[in-house]
Amino acid sequence: MEKAVVTLNRFIIEEERKHPAATGDFTSILHDIALAAKLISRAVNKAGLIDILGGTGDENVHGERVQKLDEYANQVIFNALDHGGRLCLMASEESAEPIPIPKQFPKGDYVLLYDPLDGSSNIDANVSIGTIFSVHHRRDPRHGDGAIEDLLQPGTRQVAAGYVLYGSSTMLVYTTGMGVHGFTLDNSIGEFLLSHPMIRIPKPGKRIYSVNEAYSDRWSAEQRKLVERLKGKGRFSLRYIGSLVADFHRTLLYGGLFMYPADSSAPNGKLRLLYEVSPLSMVCEQAGGAATDGQRRILDIVPEELHQRVPIYIGNQEYVELANECIGG
Ligand code: AHG
Ligand code: MN
Ligand code: MN
Repeated sequence: MEKAVVTLNRFIIEEERKHPAATGDFTSILHDIALAAKLISRAVNKAGLIDILGGTGDENVHGERVQKLDEYANQVIFNALDHGGRLCLMASEESAEPIPIPKQFPKGDYVLLYDPLDGSSNIDANVSIGTIFSVHHRRDPRHGDGAIEDLLQPGTRQVAAGYVLYGSSTMLVYTTGMGVHGFTLDNSIGEFLLSHPMIRIPKPGKRIYSVNEAYSDRWSAEQRKLVERLKGKGRFSLRYIGSLVADFHRTLLYGGLFMYPADSSAPNGKLRLLYEVSPLSMVCEQAGGAATDGQRRILDIVPEELHQRVPIYIGNQEYVELANECIGG
């Protein structure tokens, strides 16, 4: 008898049954995220064939060149989730301000924060890119439109977090706090199928460190000491793709330590807390790993503003603890 094919929808429904308190809301949100992922995957896979490569000529709130696929992915996610009646507010890396739900649609009790396309500078070179998402329950008990305090919540309060990796295959990896599960898109039937149930970061993890060493002249002495330590006895090897989702996915499946440290020109590093670092930190902890800013647990950090950046050390617990010893003193 062939092994049962478990689609994402079947898996979510079975998970929902295990938790009577779970409402259909989250099922619907994840279903809509999966639809957006399929549409973005189709565009990414055809990017070379249709005029969707390259920059729009615009810059985003971070002063970064916006790629056409960034804009496309941003719009696809908004359009997939703006009408379902489960969200009361959204926030995107590509939008300076929170994104309200259009007034003609009902409002729900969740908020969605997302990086629509991560690693977009790699698009033209056909390197893996991704989407990252984070879901919180609204804090404000009022109904109707959400407010900024519904977005500025610590990672410990996420109800779900995950990412999509558009690589040699398209994978959706997410957690709702009951383990991490990976689904691979079968394009022939347009379904995400359960391919990596209950992902656990390997222990001991591979001795891989992942950081952009080009900036080492701007690092603190502690950061330089940490990397020298990793090159010393029991030498680690270096892998750095430059797409956070791809670098993180490798760290999750093989083990290792990914770092985007603070440096003299970026005192809080480059990666954004709410829609890059916090969701991946929840996934990593749920898989048995750890994530800090060199001192504090990422998920405990209370955000102060929407696009706040934070240094990140994420991967095997033992490697993150080594980083904390060097960085945190
Ligand atoms: P995004 O494309 O969403 O702006 O993210 C890019 C990020 C992240 O994907 C990656 O880890 C990092 O930029 C690479 O930065 P450097 O080129 O400075 O190493
Ligand atoms: Mn990103
Ligand atoms: Mn992005």
